[in-house]
Formats: sequence, C-alpha cells, structure tokens
Amino acid sequence: ELKWTEVKSLSSDLKDQEVLVRGRVQAVRAVSKKMAFVVVREGLFTVQCVLMVAKEKVSEQMVKFANALSRESIVDIEGVISVPGEPIKGTSQQVEIQVRKIYCINRAISTLPINIEDAARSDAEIEEALKDGKQLVRVNQDTRLNYRVLDLRTPANQAIFHLSSEVEHEFRVFLRSEHFRGIHTPKTMGGTSEGGAAVFRFDYKGQPACLAQSPQLHKQMSISGDFRRVFEVGPVFRAEDSFTHRHLCEFTGLDVEMEIKAHYSEVMDIVDRLFVAIFDHLNENCQGELEAISRQYPFQPLKYLRKTLQLTFPEGIQMLKEAGIEVDPLGDLNTETERKLGELVRDKYDTEFYILHRYPSAIRPFYTMPCYDNASYSNSFDVFIRGEEIISGAQRIHDHEFLTKRAEACGIDVKTIATYLDSFKYGTPPHGGFGVGLERVVMLFCNLNNIRKTSQFPRDPQRLAP
Ligand code: 4AD
Repeated sequence: ELKWTEVKSLSSDLKDQEVLVRGRVQAVRAVSKKMAFVVVREGLFTVQCVLMVAKEKVSEQMVKFANALSRESIVDIEGVISVPGEPIKGTSQQVEIQVRKIYCINRAISTLPINIEDAARSDAEIEEALKDGKQLVRVNQDTRLNYRVLDLRTPANQAIFHLSSEVEHEFRVFLRSEHFRGIHTPKTMGGTSEGGAAVFRFDYKGQPACLAQSPQLHKQMSISGDFRRVFEVGPVFRAEDSFTHRHLCEFTGLDVEMEIKAHYSEVMDIVDRLFVAIFDHLNENCQGELEAISRQYPFQPLKYLRKTLQLTFPEGIQMLKEAGIEVDPLGDLNTETERKLGELVRDKYDTEFYILHRYPSAIRPFYTMPCYDNASYSNSFDVFIRGEEIISGAQRIHDHEFLTKRAEACGIDVKTIATYLDSFKYGTPPHGGFGVGLERVVMLFCNLNNIRKTSQFPRDPQRLAP
C-alpha cells in the first residue's frame, strides 16, 4: 500500500522512493509519442511528472492519455522520485516523478474561463512581456470574481486565505489565553446597532427586522450577563452604497468586549498585544505564503513597533496642521487625511501600525463614553495599518439613563433597542471593546489594493454571486 505524499514535501530525500500524489494538471507537454511531461499542482506547490515509454512500464497509450488531459483536471499519480542534474524551470519542487500510473479522477472542461497561469501573473510580468511584444492575457477583477473557484487556485490566493485563517486563529488563541470567552450573538435584530440607515431590512414573520450591523449590542449585553471578557468571530452586514476599495456589504468581524477596571487604555493594551502577536505569528510562520503573495502583488513587510504607538486625536490634528493640512478639530478624518496622517506617523515614528484615540464625541456612535474631563471628546479610538482604518473601539456608556439620553439625542428610536437599554438597569460594570474587519487586516498587512482580494466570495452593492 502506497502512502499519500503531499507535493509540498517532495524533495531529494525521497530519491528512488515510490510516491502517490494527488493534484491538478497545471500543464501538459508532449515531447513525442513516447514521452510527455505533466506538471501537477497541489496548493502552492508544483512538480514535474515524466512519462517515458519503456521506463516504469509506461505504454504509448498512457502517453497519449496524459497528452489528452485537460488543464485543472484532478489526477492521481504513482511513480518514483528522481533528481535531475539541472534545475527544473517552472515548478516549485526540484525533483521529478517518473510516472508508473496515472489516473484521472475528475476531468475539467477544456475551455476554462480563466487560465490559472494567466491569473497568477504580476502586473510587472505582464508589462515586461508586452514590452517584448508577447501577448499575455490580463485577467480582470470581475472575471476573477465571476469564476472565483478557479481564481482561488492561484498561489497568491491560496496564500491570502491561509493568512486570513491564521489571523482568525491567532485572534482566538491570544484572547483565550487572556481569559476571554468566545460567544455567538444573533444576526437578526429588531433594531439597528450602529444607528444610521445602512442596514439590510427584512420581514421577520411579520415583524420589521434587519441583519446585524455589528455584534455591538449583544456583546455589551454579554457583559451585563456577567461574561466579563468576550470575543466573537462572525458575519457583519452593512447595506451602505459605498463602492470603494475597502467596503463590503458583508464582512467578517472580529469583535471584543471587556470589563474595564480603571481606564479605557486597558482595551487599547489588548489591541496592542493582540496585534503584535498576530503580526509576529504571520511573519514567523507564514514566510512561504508571504512570498507567494509578494510574487504576484509585491509589497514591503509591515513596519510595527514592539509597543504600539498611541497618539491622541488632537495630536494627530496637530501633525496634519504642521504639514499644512487644516482639518476640523472636532470633525472626522476622511480617507485622504487618514492616509496622510499615516505617512506622517510612519516618517516620524517608523511605524505603519498605530492607535489614534480620544476622538471627538460628535462623530462616534451613541453608546460611546465621553471623556470625563471634556465631553467634546470621547474614550474611543481607531487603529490604522498603512494609514487605513482596521479597528474602531471605545469605552461604552454603562449608565442606563445617560445611555438612553444619548440614543435619543442621536435620533435613534429607543423602542427598537429597548431590551438593550434595559439590560443596563440591573448593574453593569464599566466596559469597552473594539471591532476589527478581518478582510481589512489581511488586505493592509499585505498592502493589497482591494478588499475583494481578501474576501473569498465578496459581497458588494452589485455582487451577490457566486
Ligand atoms: O467602525 P465600525 O463600524 O465599528 C463597529 O462596528 C463598532 N461596533 C466596533 C466597536 O466595537 N466599537 O466597524 C469596525 C471595523 C472597521 O474598523 C473596519 O475594519 C471594519 O469593521 N468595517 C468594514 N470592513 C469591510 N467593509 C465594510 N463596509 C466595513 N465597515 C467596517
């Protein structure tokens, strides 16, 4: 009985050994009636398989069969590992398999809408080829997304979704080690959690309802329910019509809520240590993936400090002012000023990851705790990677009366969130937390230009399939 071997682990250590691998046909090259090469791909890895008549009992018929294999078909291959004298071009593994048997397990149609090698090329590679007068196909984003199952097979995409899974895993590992409890809150709600009109509304057996814009209300109610520290990984729905590089209508939220003993900096301290742990983990354990992404979408490693920089909003405004950019000191930053501030921070502090806190109260959600010393500002923060927001967080108002007043002042119909407001009547400790967009973290860590690249099946105002 032959054991399955992953293409990834094929190396010269296995010389002369028999192996059994499964993969996809990446390319077939016929040399003659008596010889053919089949490049087989499994995930990020490729290996050249050689069929030669008279060797390993290969027949002409087998060579013919191999020649007729369509790209992307699933094949099982049995053969012996050999180590050629010269380096093998175009495959990740530097050994060959001398094929004994080849089975086609599932045949792909021969007219694929996307060729994986085309989809895997970097812009630079395409420009270069065009300069040399060669014709290369550029696969556009819509085609990629329409045929996402094919597009997902490129090395860069394999790597991107590996990273995404690692970020989520590390998020859980870190928080559990800090005694946070994993929770799941409802995604169907009678009222909105973040205010505003950007919700998907639907009929819930005769009651008006909407899809959760965040786990905000229920994660806070978990604190009222004496869950002192909680986290959730789950879908978040936003119906806003923003067709940008960083907004989706459905994304994965990484949410945290915790009791605060004395100061909202306790929440920022968790952000700091959590993200340094996540970034370290990616850099230490995902080198192959980071290289695979970089080959198609070149980027510089993220600069971050051992102890995350914290600046106040007024300090940020001041930095912008000194750079000749005037912004309203009690207004919000926009994409452009956030990015500009990111550059100023990078140049001054040598970091592309930082926390901006003490935001003006007027631009934060109703549940945000104002600063004790000056109510125009709030105990809140945003966190940025390369000048773009990945997190927003804050201390919350835990006084029932004050919270109700704030909700009313913000134009919220308090009847729709009555059970949430009521939950603060029975004793709730000071608390705070934050929400992270998973797709944004991966996008910005790798300096990718579009959030659709880090969502497996993105949902935007126009896209509901696949
Ligand atoms: O800034 P947001 O809307 O904050 C909240 O939902 C709060 N309840 C968080 C809290 O605990 N105070 O969303 C949090 C994060 C953003 O920083 C961003 O990374 C991501 O979620 N996000 C989006 N990601 C993709 N598409 C969208 N439309 C997003 N909107 C927010």
